[in-house]
Amino acid sequence: MKHNFDEIIDRRASECKKYEPAYPKDVIPMWIADTDFAVPEEISKAIQERAKHPCYGYPVESFEFEKAAAGWEKKRFGWDVDPHWVKYSNGVLPFFMYAIRAFAYPGDKVVFQTPVYPPFYAIPKNNGIHVVTNPLIQDENGKFSVDWEDLEKKLADPRVKLFFLSNPQNPCMKSYTREELTRIGELCLKYNVFVVADEIHCDLCYKGHEHIPFGSISEEFAKNSMVLINPSKTFNIAGFRTGAAIIPDDERRKQIQIMIEDNKNYGRTIFGMLTFETAYNECEYYADELMEYLEGNRDYIVKFIKERIPGIKLAEAEATYLMWLDCRGLNMNQEELKKFFFEKAKLGLNDGATFGVEGVGFMRMNIACPRATLVEALNRLEKAVKEL
Ligand SMILES: Cc1ncc(COP(=O)(O)O)c(C=O)c1O
Repeated sequence: MKHNFDEIIDRRASECKKYEPAYPKDVIPMWIADTDFAVPEEISKAIQERAKHPCYGYPVESFEFEKAAAGWEKKRFGWDVDPHWVKYSNGVLPFFMYAIRAFAYPGDKVVFQTPVYPPFYAIPKNNGIHVVTNPLIQDENGKFSVDWEDLEKKLADPRVKLFFLSNPQNPCMKSYTREELTRIGELCLKYNVFVVADEIHCDLCYKGHEHIPFGSISEEFAKNSMVLINPSKTFNIAGFRTGAAIIPDDERRKQIQIMIEDNKNYGRTIFGMLTFETAYNECEYYADELMEYLEGNRDYIVKFIKERIPGIKLAEAEATYLMWLDCRGLNMNQEELKKFFFEKAKLGLNDGATFGVEGVGFMRMNIACPRATLVEALNRLEKAVKEL
């Protein structure tokens, strides 16, 4: 490999949220969704080069940003995106708020599949619309699938204006198939529900699973959706706060633009554009190598838990580096479970309950770390479980 993913980097000295300030030195933080890997050298070099110039005032809004986003979708997923469809934003999350403000009235509803990334609940609630959940169903092997009957019933409610899709799904490690996406898209068209497809984890599908951009499935789906992307998860550049939305329908795009202008939220960052463009234009090799490395981590943890940690179950992830650990077999309530991981195993994971009621009994573990860190973490977990 060109990149060394085994390198152990001290992140404590870098004002890094994952490590500071809540985490004592003897706890391994494995929670928030960034990686412990260095960025590709092309990104480091580009930053250093630009940093040599001593002025950092307002940048021009060069069209290179839009072209980079479109180029990535084409070369990675075969989707022909017109760069004019692309909108800049400070990360993908603001687009949820724009979609709510543009396409729903207060009191309307949004549907999404749970358990899910916590802002899916918070943003609608904080912007005056109701949340309706369509819980995913888990089979005996831990694989998640859609409850279609429930989904249709919920989408049929005339107050439902939006469907938020997390694909690949965080934290269910699910990569939606073309058939599933098609069925979701058709139901949304049938009930006139606009789809906000959060595809921030799109690069992180394991072998045997393919990421299919929602808008790539058909022109009708493209026009009834916006697809959100950000190289942050793959290239470890979340700190540059730069994401993009692909909004193929002219009218929808204009409506989102009004929201952006209303909030005067169009300012770009020099380093955000630079890292976004460098990642997407020059670092495809890194995305490939990252997945190869993560696959090793995923296989290691799945085998380890199966063979050595009774009481915890982990399905084979289809996508993402966020492992959804089913800890119900440890017979603890959620408070005990959190305490157990933090105080006994000395591991800082996400509390599964923050992803919805279906997450009670679960913890989410981020395995985007050097193999040696993962091995140490699992050894700690095994020891702590044995001591119970
Ligand atoms: C599904 C999902 N969407 C959005 C985000 C955050 O996106 P951003 O930092 O671009 O606002 C995350 C971060 O973990 C995520 O997992």
